[in-house]
Amino acid sequence: MNAPRYAVVGNPVAHSLSPDIHAAFARETGLAVDYRRIVAPVDGFASSVDAFFADGGRGVNVTVPFKLEACAYCGDRISPRARRAGAVNFIAHETDGAHGDNTDGIGLVTDLARLAGGIGARLSGSRILLVGAGGAARGVLGPLLDAKPQSLCVVGRDRSKVDALIADTPAEGRGFDEIGTMHFDLVINATSASLSGDRLSLPSPIFEDAAIAYDMMYAAAPTSFMVDASAGGTRRVADGLGMLVEQAAESFFLWRGVRPQTGSVIAMLRARLADAR
Ligand code: ATR
Repeated sequence: MNAPRYAVVGNPVAHSLSPDIHAAFARETGLAVDYRRIVAPVDGFASSVDAFFADGGRGVNVTVPFKLEACAYCGDRISPRARRAGAVNFIAHETDGAHGDNTDGIGLVTDLARLAGGIGARLSGSRILLVGAGGAARGVLGPLLDAKPQSLCVVGRDRSKVDALIADTPAEGRGFDEIGTMHFDLVINATSASLSGDRLSLPSPIFEDAAIAYDMMYAAAPTSFMVDASAGGTRRVADGLGMLVEQAAESFFLWRGVRPQTGSVIAMLRARLADAR
C-alpha cells in the first residue's frame, strides 16, 4: 500500500524543513508518510490544495503567505485554537471536507516548557513579554495565556495593532518607550525583524532577570535579538527551530494518532544548519 500523502503548501517553500522533519518522524514511529513541498501561486492557494486533495492527499501544513487564506478555505470547520489564532497551518482532508487547526502556539509552548524544564524554570507564574503584534504574535498569544503566566505584556511599535491583539484577553499592551524599566522572566520575539535583518532596539533591563529569551525565527547563527538578550544577562537564549519541530510533531499526531519524539530531530536539524554555515 502506498504511504499516505501530505504536503507543506507555501510560496516560497523550497527551503522548508517540514519534509525532512516528517520523514524523521516516519522513521522513528514506523508510520510511513509521503510528505512533499507544494509551491502554490500567490493567487492559487485554494486551487492547489483542491488539486492535491482530489488526487488523494490526506492533509497539508500551510506556511507563508497562506495561513489566513487557509482559515477561509476551511470555513466553519476550524478548531477553537485556529479560530483564536485567526490562522490555519494544518488541514486534514476528511470525508466531510477540509478541517483546519493551528499547531504553532502549542509548538512554541511545548518547546518553551522543554527549555524551561532544562534550567529549572517554569512558564506558569512567569512574567512574559511578547514582542510584536502581527500574525505570529496572534498565533501564540492564546496558548501562552493558557500556560498561566503571572502576567503577559505585548509590546509593539504600532499601538493600535497591540490594542487590537490584546482586546478581550488579560494581556496588557505597551509601546517600546514604555518598557524601559520593566523586568521579565521570559522574552519572546514574534516580530519579523530577524527575518529582515533589522535590530530591535529593546531596553536591556528587560533581559536582566530573564530565564529565557526566545526568537520565533530560526537561523544558523544567533539572531541579533538572541545576541542582545545574552548581553543583557538572560540565562538561556533560543531560536525557533524547536518550535518548528514541535508544531510538526503536533501535526503528525493529529494526522496519524502517534506522537513522535522530537529531541533527536531538533538535534539533527541543528547539526545540519551548523554544517551549512
Ligand atoms: P508575521 O505574520 O510574521 O507576524 P506581520 O503580521 O507582518 O508578520 O507582523 C510582523 C510584526 O513584526 C509586526 O508587529 C511588525 O510591526 P508593525 O506592525 O509596526 O509593522 C513587527 N516588526 C517588524 N520589524 C520590526 C522592527 N524593526 N521593529 C519593531 N517591530 C517590527
